Amino acid sequence: MKRALITGITGQDGLYLAELLQSKGYQVFGLIRGQDNPKYDLVRDTVPGITLLKSDLTDISSLVRALELSDPHEVYNLGAISFVPYSWENPVLTTDVTAKGVLNLLEAIRMWAGTDLSRVRFYQASSSEMFGEVREVPQTESTLLWPRSPYGVAKVFGHHLTINYRESYGLHASSGILFNHESPRRGPEFVTRKVTQAVARISLGEQKKLVLGNLDARRDWGFAGDFVEAMWLMLQQDEPEDFVVATGVAHSIRDLLDVAFGEIGIEDWTPWVGVDERYLRPAEVTHLIGDATRARTELGWQPSVEFDELIRMMVASDLIEQELALVRHGASR
Ligand code: GDD
Repeated sequence: MKRALITGITGQDGLYLAELLQSKGYQVFGLIRGQDNPKYDLVRDTVPGITLLKSDLTDISSLVRALELSDPHEVYNLGAISFVPYSWENPVLTTDVTAKGVLNLLEAIRMWAGTDLSRVRFYQASSSEMFGEVREVPQTESTLLWPRSPYGVAKVFGHHLTINYRESYGLHASSGILFNHESPRRGPEFVTRKVTQAVARISLGEQKKLVLGNLDARRDWGFAGDFVEAMWLMLQQDEPEDFVVATGVAHSIRDLLDVAFGEIGIEDWTPWVGVDERYLRPAEVTHLIGDATRARTELGWQPSVEFDELIRMMVASDLIEQELALVRHGASR
């Protein structure tokens, strides 16, 4: 039986990847941070059978211990501080977790595996945020990196370190440069979920206004469930490599609003949406669109969910969630 160890198990990608690996017969271990983590039950309920190990990317001894306990064939490093605006407020913490955490994990792998690094394969969650002030459109694996946030800079460090461990030690280490990927499991601080949650609440008369930042930013949004498949495929290749994972289609925040509000029968969303500069970023990434030709040709990967369908799926899920919340609220009164 193959064993996989996932960091960042509490995030949407961690959950989708754990489900995928279990469906393929893997024994899955997830690293969970902190004492009494409030997401512990969520993970156990979503992925029954998973083994959760207490560990932290900033504590190398806890990582070595987790590797010893799980003895994995594959390690997926999805753990990071991943909300871009937070990285300006907490740049040192972001660097410790999102950048140095990769170093800690790679060194922990070397300590645990000793001279036999061939016993394990490593996946690093790199990000399209590394392209930042984009140097070409669309972006490929060889596009110059120009990060625009402490988060993006930290991801560049992890990306290059992964390549360096591959080249220095022959580790089967691959980096997936993932463009934005969303789902009903997305955290409500990210723009897609912020919009779909608000639209559901507006439709139920529970919210009057949705306040956003830059409506002109463009992103290449795909479905997280599709993207974790690409992660797994990377580790099944004979040779490790880096891959852009993207849909190749970009939309603006305005397009997102069109589809989401359209789902509840509102064509003109302008009366419902405000803009506040507190949601603007010190340096914005305005236009991301990926060229996933390599993933398509070498991994045989392709996305199955298009943008409109993705947003509709998220609105439908949020409508159910908000209706249930109303029922619970009514019952508790
Ligand atoms: N979050 C948020 N909230 N974003 C807003 C808002 C708002 O109210 N209004 C406009 N935006 C714009 C942001 O300025 C940005 O240009 C875009 O919406 C997307 O923002 P997010 O959904 O927060 O995602 P992100 O692109 O910054 O980062 C996500 O994708 C990366 C992959 O490229 C995160 O998941 C990163 O961790 C990931 O690496």
